[in-house]
Amino acid sequence: MIRHTLRGLVCALPLLALPPSARADAPSAAAPALMPWPAHAEFSDGMIDPSAGFRVSWDNPPSALLEHAATRFLLRADRLISAIPRHTPGTAAPVSLRIICGNDPDMLTIDAKEAYRLRVRPDGIKLTADGPEGVIHGLATLLQLIRPAPSGGAALTLADIRDKPRFVWRGLMIDTSRHFVSVDTLRRQIDAMELVKLNVLHLHLSDGTGFRMESTQMPDITRKSTHGQYYTKAQLSDLVARAADRGIRVVPEIDVPGHTLALLLARPDLAAHTPVDPEPKNKNNPALDPTLPATLSFISTLFTETTELFPDRYFHAGGDEVVSGEWTGNPRIRAFMTARGYATPQILQAQFTAEVEKILAAANRTMIGWDEVSEAPIPASVVIQVWRSSKFIASATDAGHPVVVSAGYYLDLLRPASEHYLTDPEDPAAEGLTRAQTAKRLARGADPVLIAALQNDPAPPPLSRKQRKLILGGEAPLWTELVTDEMLDARLWPRSAAIAERFWSSADLRDVNDMYRRLEPVAAELEITGLHARANTIRMAERLAPGDAGPLQTLAGATMPLRNYMMNRYTGLKNIPPDQIAGIASPDPMPAIRFNAMAARYAAGDRSLAASLRAQLLIWKNNELSFASSGPHLKGARAASHTLSVLAGLGLTALDHPGSPPDPAALQILDDAAARLVQADDMTAVFGMTDFPPGGLLMAAVPGIRSLITPGN
Ligand code: ACM
Repeated sequence: MIRHTLRGLVCALPLLALPPSARADAPSAAAPALMPWPAHAEFSDGMIDPSAGFRVSWDNPPSALLEHAATRFLLRADRLISAIPRHTPGTAAPVSLRIICGNDPDMLTIDAKEAYRLRVRPDGIKLTADGPEGVIHGLATLLQLIRPAPSGGAALTLADIRDKPRFVWRGLMIDTSRHFVSVDTLRRQIDAMELVKLNVLHLHLSDGTGFRMESTQMPDITRKSTHGQYYTKAQLSDLVARAADRGIRVVPEIDVPGHTLALLLARPDLAAHTPVDPEPKNKNNPALDPTLPATLSFISTLFTETTELFPDRYFHAGGDEVVSGEWTGNPRIRAFMTARGYATPQILQAQFTAEVEKILAAANRTMIGWDEVSEAPIPASVVIQVWRSSKFIASATDAGHPVVVSAGYYLDLLRPASEHYLTDPEDPAAEGLTRAQTAKRLARGADPVLIAALQNDPAPPPLSRKQRKLILGGEAPLWTELVTDEMLDARLWPRSAAIAERFWSSADLRDVNDMYRRLEPVAAELEITGLHARANTIRMAERLAPGDAGPLQTLAGATMPLRNYMMNRYTGLKNIPPDQIAGIASPDPMPAIRFNAMAARYAAGDRSLAASLRAQLLIWKNNELSFASSGPHLKGARAASHTLSVLAGLGLTALDHPGSPPDPAALQILDDAAARLVQADDMTAVFGMTDFPPGGLLMAAVPGIRSLITPGN
């Protein structure tokens, strides 16, 4: 059944004729669904038939890594080609795929050679790269050139592509602490990352909820900090090797000095506050006492053990969200600060960071820290991961730090792909609270130090060339307070593919509609080749409504989960995922996205879309009646489905009786749903929020329905 759905998706791709030798530094509506879009691409009218597979040849003897890459390519190509129905048996011969790969001593470093050239011609394919990572990227592009031929079966678009990345650091960060993520799930994410040219997997291995790495040096950590859920050393080594085989570096994070409750369960003697409460109100807060020599020797032992498993040059030592009171509330730490003349906890943290940096430098590692570590002077070699506000891109690079940008890419905020896509790593004003939002938060009693950090700089001076060169790239973090292992694929994908394009492709690519046009087939590609985003979502829907999951999925196609931490509040800040429809709903419900785009075109005069719009509206209107299952866990879904039905009714009336006044009660429901959307985008609305829409769902089709009712809106 799942496979059938996927086939439908692949076959739905339009295959329009391309003008001969169309040059496309930006995609046209007929262009293949490449993502990330390449630096230069030319397409020719014509295609070749890959149904008999490929015959790979090498100009130089391939390394084991290259042979593995070719084997994966053949397997994936076979799956993609088999997913496209054909009407007649193939007669084609295998397509020749000649690969020419140079040697790259910098493979798996930030200096790796990643460029490639891919030529698909009627007589065969030639892939040329200076190093293995270029080959891996070129094969990923080649897979995305496979699409349905107009006459049935698969076709490869003729192309000449020259490509290289804009940024050397293109990462995902996965929080394995709040919810443990199984090894199998991590393996799937690594495979998907390869297909969209992401090259850094940052594993957040430690936090208040649990420490996730086996320690043989300090077995008490394994016993007391992991709660039985951890990666063995062998599993981590396997993961690192699997990633390396795909051109992906794995960067470990052991977060110190805050977020250390789990570690403190094994070493309560190192806590800023003893006795350690295993169930504090906020598990993020307990911190190490930075004044104890034993704290640094503990960190040294733990980090050394970690570097033995993670060969990457970079090591993330955390440094975020140290709550001042953890330190200033301890008289001994206060006395230490006074004796040394440290006026603020930030200065104490900077001294601590400098010591941690020395430990890492001695192990030949470059330290990464969250942007808090840049608040007082620390060695310029420390890489700053910017998260609280984009203004830290400017301040950190001004101080000479290399930067990885995560502000604007937080996947756990459940924002749509379009918002992340339009956030550029080189924009120091992209993300942060506005002045009005700051004032609102302060008036409600928020911590002024925290608010000052979250506030953006609305008109920062442009970054200098030197500052821009220090931006290594970006990382999209997924914090897992509300993400179980089963939900992880769908919370990461397909949004991560759109972000991968932001990190790889030209800054000039900003066409959201075209991004969504390509995102659907890319999502299908990822699923067909091994991801479980759709499969797990379908299973979750079946569990909520056994044998009757269809109406839930229809509802999910028209709604989005609350965003910007409102979902955390909706669940009562319990670090548990919504066991309801909101866990299934996606920030990018494609039926609603397509509907909104069609409605906008209809409102602008394209009346040919009336039938398609009506068909979708009827499905939504009648969905309410389709719920056969009931039970308290579906209460929110049913109520949301009723709202959807009312909105769809408004749309149908507007289509069938243009100009007639809408029903005032229904219009009020539409206005309320629209106000919810505005509220959901206000980062400050979550504080003190007690009133939530049914099911924690936002109505995604509001813009489309509004444009039907009031053309020109
Ligand atoms: C963070 O989100 N605390 C880095």
